[in-house]
Amino acid sequence: MEHDSSLDFSPELLKKLIIKSAGIIEEWYANGLRNSKIYSNYSPGEIRSLFDEEMPVKGADPEQLLEIIRKDVFRTSNFNPSPNYYGYITGGGNHASIIAELLKTSLNQNNLKWHSAPANSEIEKIVVKWICQFIGYPEDAGGVLVSGGSVANFLNLAVMRKTMCRGDISNEGLYGGTRITVYVSEQGHSSIDKAMDMLGLGKNYLRKIPVDDDMRINTKILEETIGKDKKDGLMPACIIGIAGTTNNGAVDPLKELGNLAGKYNMWYMVDGAYGLPAAGTKMYSPLFEGYEIADSLLINPHKWFFVPFEASCVIVKNKKLLRDTFSLVPDYLRDTGEDSERDDLMNYNLQLTKDFKALKVWMTFKTYGAGKLRGAIENDCKLAQYAGDLIEKARDFELMAPVPLSIVCFRYTGRNGEFTGDEKMLDTVNEQILRGIEKDGRIFFAGTRIRGKTSLRINLTNHRRNKEDIDFLLKVLREIANKNIYRK
Ligand SMILES: Cc1ncc(COP(=O)(O)O)c(C=O)c1O
Repeated sequence: MEHDSSLDFSPELLKKLIIKSAGIIEEWYANGLRNSKIYSNYSPGEIRSLFDEEMPVKGADPEQLLEIIRKDVFRTSNFNPSPNYYGYITGGGNHASIIAELLKTSLNQNNLKWHSAPANSEIEKIVVKWICQFIGYPEDAGGVLVSGGSVANFLNLAVMRKTMCRGDISNEGLYGGTRITVYVSEQGHSSIDKAMDMLGLGKNYLRKIPVDDDMRINTKILEETIGKDKKDGLMPACIIGIAGTTNNGAVDPLKELGNLAGKYNMWYMVDGAYGLPAAGTKMYSPLFEGYEIADSLLINPHKWFFVPFEASCVIVKNKKLLRDTFSLVPDYLRDTGEDSERDDLMNYNLQLTKDFKALKVWMTFKTYGAGKLRGAIENDCKLAQYAGDLIEKARDFELMAPVPLSIVCFRYTGRNGEFTGDEKMLDTVNEQILRGIEKDGRIFFAGTRIRGKTSLRINLTNHRRNKEDIDFLLKVLREIANKNIYRK
C-alpha cells in the first residue's frame, strides 16, 4: 500500500502558518510590555497538566496547535521582554534576531564543514571578528559560537588543559602527569567547577581566592597561593579573571591578573560571559583594562548584546591552539577539497552538527550597529546606578554590594529600617519578599547570597527600560513588603 511519507505542508498552508505565528510574536511584544503580569505563578502540576498526554500517533491540525502554543505556552512563560523582568542575567532579546532565527531554521544548514554550510561558515567567522572589534581584542583570534557561557568555559578550559599540561594527554590522558592548579575568585561561576570536574582536572585543584571589599579577587592572596602550590610540587597553570561576576558584576583587576599570569608562565583566561560587552563602551572600558592580555575569553551575545538565547562566543588569541584542541577529522568527514581557505567550523569546536547562531548575531550587529548596542549597554549601567542611588538613600532598603555594571544587590530592612542589625530577621523578611514577588507577578527576579546574607538581586540587561521602570520596581517591592511582612 502506498504511504504518503511527506511531512511538507502545501505552500499556501506553510505561508498561512507563518503569518499566524507572526501574529503570536507580535502579540507577545506589543501587548503589555508594562502594565501586565510577567510571571504566572502556576504550579508544576498545573503546567504539566496542559501538556501531559500519550504520544500522538495521528497528527493534528497545525493551525489548532498554534492556538495551543499561543494559549498554553506563551501564557505560562515568563514575560522576559518586559522591563519589569530583572531575573538572572537575561538579555532583553531583540526583534532583528527573531527574524534571523526563523530564517535560519528554514535554511537547516549543517554547520560542521565549510562545504555543508558555506554562508554560515563565513558569517560565523565574521561575527566573531566583529565581537573582537567591539571589545578591542585582536581580530585574528580564533573563535566559535556555542550554546552558552557554561559550555564556553568548558571549551576554554579544554584549550588551556591541552596547551598547558605536559605530555601526550590526548592519547594518554592526565594519568600520572603533574597536577595543575587553576585560580579564580570565590565569585567564579559554577560552570568553572563543573569544567574542572569533567575535564579530569579535579575540583580540588581549583583555587577559590577570597575577594576584597569590592568583590574583586584579592591578588595578594592569589600570588601567595600560587607560591605555596609551586612549593608543594603542583603546577600553577591558569588564572581566570572575571569581567563581570554573576553575583554583582564585579570586574577583577584584569591587568594585574594578566601580569601575574605572565610572571608565572600561566595561561590567562577571562570569563566575560556577562560583562565583557561593556569593555566596548567609552564609559566602562577603563574598568576592563588588561583583559586584552588574556590568552582566551568568553562573551555571551545572549546576555549583553541583547541576542535571544542561545549564543556564547569562545575566543582564543592563538587560533592554532583552539584548532589543535578540537580538530579531529575521521574518514566520513573528509572532503575532496585541498582549498585551505575552506575553514571547517567543526575543527574549532566539540560540536559537529550545529545550528546557524551566527545569523542572529550578524542581524543584530547589522540592524542596530555597534553604536546603538554600546548606547543600550551604557543605559543599563546608568539605570543600575540610578537604582543603586535610590536604594542607598532609602530608609527601607540597603545596598549589599557595589554596583560596578548593571547588577544591583540589595535588601529590605523594614519600613523604617527597623530590622537593621538583626541578620536572622533580615534573611527571613527578604526570603518572604522573594516568595511574594512570585505570587504578585508584576515584577520578576530571584535572590542570591552576598557574604552569606540573603540578598535581592536585579540585573539590567534590557534595552527597553527607563527610570520610571526602576521607580515602579521599588514601589511594587514596598507593596509586596507591606502585604507579606506587615500583612497590609
Ligand atoms: C560570569 C559568568 N560566566 C558564565 C556564565 C554561564 O553562562 P550561561 O548561563 O550562558 O551558561 C554566567 C551566567 O550568568 C556568568 O555570569
